[in-house]
Amino acid sequence: QFKELVFSGMQPTGNLHLGNYLGAMIRWIELQKTMECIYCVVDMHAITVWQDPADLKRQIREVTAAYLAAGLDPKKSIIFNQSQVHQHAELAWIFNCVARIGWMNRMTQFKEKAGKDRENASLGLYAYPSLMAADILVYRATHVPVGEDQKQHLELTRDVAQKFNNDYAASIAENGYGDAFFPLTEPMIQGPATRVMSLRDGSKKMSKSDPSDYSRINLTDDADTIAQKVRKAKTDPEPLPSEAEGLKGRPEAENLVAIYAALTGTTPEDVLRDHGGSQFSGFKAALVDVAVTKLAPIAGEMRRLMADPGHIDAILVDGSDRARVIAAQTMDAVKDIVGF
Ligand code: ADP
Ligand code: NA
Repeated sequence: QFKELVFSGMQPTGNLHLGNYLGAMIRWIELQKTMECIYCVVDMHAITVWQDPADLKRQIREVTAAYLAAGLDPKKSIIFNQSQVHQHAELAWIFNCVARIGWMNRMTQFKEKAGKDRENASLGLYAYPSLMAADILVYRATHVPVGEDQKQHLELTRDVAQKFNNDYAASIAENGYGDAFFPLTEPMIQGPATRVMSLRDGSKKMSKSDPSDYSRINLTDDADTIAQKVRKAKTDPEPLPSEAEGLKGRPEAENLVAIYAALTGTTPEDVLRDHGGSQFSGFKAALVDVAVTKLAPIAGEMRRLMADPGHIDAILVDGSDRARVIAAQTMDAVKDIVGF
């Protein structure tokens, strides 16, 4: 009943890192070869916590440059920034009225990001998952490739779609949209690195907000910086096991093997077949090679693209125009269904 369509996005809140790349973006690039894809720079999500306006403008361009440098093709995929398509905000309001406060109260990301001073978090941070549901459903997207940390938000997106479909079932049918207006979107959480961990602490996920720059590899890092960060990555004293079983209880080793597998398009089993028995010094040298080969050209291409902001802006304008056509059709229908 629903046409297959892929949607995903990243926040322009700081450097994109290896977790964003291996957890999501590498899959986006594959998917655009065979499916219709929409990739968004979610700038309205960014301001749920304070952003300096000049920095935000630069970050929107930088994340777009990262998309392009990593291999997203604006001829194959729609690439744009969220704030340019007002239907995201419009649908999010309707979803604020469909979603329940209790659903938001269960969101672990809100609890983490709001910290102890929850009363002082923005209302937008609390309602974030409702805007995310709108981002996806304003295109009636059927597939969303993301990292593991987004699983709960995707479940909420399905809950919103289902409740909208139920609450408005009669009106949906009356307006000629059959028995369901929104699809129940499938998360695509795939590959060996759906949750890349910090290089300094195997119990924390790699994140933009980690104060230690050595905890993550940024997509803007040059070859020397990548090499230094891999060499300093925390490990344990044992050599690598020859089977994946042997990685249990060794989160740092498991993380480096997963990163190696994701960078080379193989599996942890393949990596251990080649490197089982190696000391970390040797394995890290091999990891530096594959990381630099894959990532250093992306950083170089980002620098080249950032030198021409007008070109990046033109891609975002074109992408927004194409996205708006689809989003406007959905919103026209939603307004009829809701009774506006
Ligand atoms: P961040 O969590 O770094 O602020 P976003 O919320 O913008 O970044 O997430 C962008 C995408 O990157 C999402 O699909 C998210 O699941 C993925 N992602 C973020 N961090 C990681 C990680 N450490 N490992 C795997 N995927 C990640
Ligand atoms: Na995230």
